[in-house]
Amino acid sequence: MKNIYPNIFKYNKNNLSKAKIILKKNGITAVPTETVYGLAGNAYSDKSIKKIYNLKKRPKKNPLIIHYHSISMLKKDAYIDKKFFKLYKKFSPGPLTYILKKKPKSKISSLANSKLSSIAVRFPKNIAIRNLLKQLNFPLAIPSANISSSVSPVKATDVFDEFGKKISFILDGGKSRIGLESTVISLYGKIRILRPGAISHIKIGKLLKKKISILKKAKKLESPGLLKKHYSPGIPIKLNCKKSDDKAAFIVLGKKYKKGKNIFNLSRSTNLNKAAKNLYKTLRKIKKLGYKKINIVKIPNKEIGIAINDRLKRASH
Ligand code: TXA
Ligand code: MG
Repeated sequence: MKNIYPNIFKYNKNNLSKAKIILKKNGITAVPTETVYGLAGNAYSDKSIKKIYNLKKRPKKNPLIIHYHSISMLKKDAYIDKKFFKLYKKFSPGPLTYILKKKPKSKISSLANSKLSSIAVRFPKNIAIRNLLKQLNFPLAIPSANISSSVSPVKATDVFDEFGKKISFILDGGKSRIGLESTVISLYGKIRILRPGAISHIKIGKLLKKKISILKKAKKLESPGLLKKHYSPGIPIKLNCKKSDDKAAFIVLGKKYKKGKNIFNLSRSTNLNKAAKNLYKTLRKIKKLGYKKINIVKIPNKEIGIAINDRLKRASH
């Protein structure tokens, strides 16, 4: 089949090299990660970071996550302690982002962390992005590859939907395994979850032998991604619905719901991980089909269901 997307390139050695060349010249490429697809740029370069903010139309006050291959490079940029090591050993590489104190001598562009004294760091697990990071001598700033406040992309063609040809290179590493953005935990000041994700506060609490709370209302700069309107498909969403009319798209979970033209089941087996993986895909599909309204059933508020509900709540604003 002919590739109708001129800027989507399958993950292989040759295309990885092409991505590397673009990034070294402070250009931007879209990359796969196990959570969602991201827009990557050299975290040391003001020029790259400006490009990312412009492309995404992202408020300058909303800082980016810096992605590393391993701890050795991070040590130049942030202070790390015992608790970080404990979490790192268990959950990284993977869908966990740490807020750490930035070192004054760090070369990370101050535009990337909105001139805060902290930085957000993550070690992604997806093989394509890991291999790319391994070959670079700088970390990558990678926000989700969507226009600010809309739904995050979970496959290469979703990125094309967002940016079209405004971005010259999209590295295709298949579908994102998790489908929701990483858990963000602050280790700077009080330890707490700023954004729920696949790694729950319960799992983290067990490891650190301590009760971990989830930040309810974000103050201005604490985690701007937690500000109310976000992750929005651009049409109204109603939560906790028991039934729906035929005109609205009805997102459901479990076997008890009949199949139907306007019924979108996140997981017939009520598997919350599958539901998370299907959520953004489903929202995107519903929008494309032209529905003007979405109704969704109540999603159990446990495990990754907490993250699903967090995103739905913001999407419904
Ligand atoms: O799974 C993910 O984390 C994806 C993939 C691409 O890695 N990235 C992602 O990035 O979700 P983004 O930019 O869409 O969300 C970053 C979140 C925002 O809520 C932002 O406010 C928060 O991280 N953040 C970044 N730096 C921070 C800091 N220094 N303090 C507090 N929150 C920060
Ligand atoms: Mg985002």
